[in-house]
Amino acid sequence: MFNYDINTADKPSLYEDLYTACEAITAGEEDAIANMANVAALLWQYIPDLNWAGFYRMKNDALILGPFQGKAACIHIPLDKGVCGKAASTGEIQCINNVHDFEGHIACDADSVSELVAPISDNDSNIIAVIDLDSPTANRFDEQDVEGISRIANLLSDRISI
Ligand code: SME
Repeated sequence: MFNYDINTADKPSLYEDLYTACEAITAGEEDAIANMANVAALLWQYIPDLNWAGFYRMKNDALILGPFQGKAACIHIPLDKGVCGKAASTGEIQCINNVHDFEGHIACDADSVSELVAPISDNDSNIIAVIDLDSPTANRFDEQDVEGISRIANLLSDRISI
């Protein structure tokens, strides 16, 4: 059993404590699936107002569903489709206030309104996965979420090698 002391009072504290927890739970573990599964569980448990939290992995030049929490989701995402495809193809974090205004959005869960998708690169700067957070609330994610999730994405670069 893992016990983490996560201060959810404000976003800087939340993301600082989440980073520490993600660091600790993946330290010394080489299995990518185990690490993604535990990080998805931590993000889901502690980040408020989400309807989906998890990973898509790069495989054969497309994204494929990885460990997650939430409703069953689309399995394959081409790189020219959706918020996840854009993050993976550009290498840039995507913070979308309302996915209904995003051309090519893939509606896996009709409840999703805003999304934050952060690419994860390996040490050679190849994109290997993305972290995808979905919320039923418009404008749910801001700069503090972007910064906090980017740090966790960077942490995972050599902890989810497949
Ligand atoms: N909506 C995403 C697809 C993944 S699901 O939300 C879990 C997108 O447009 O990339």
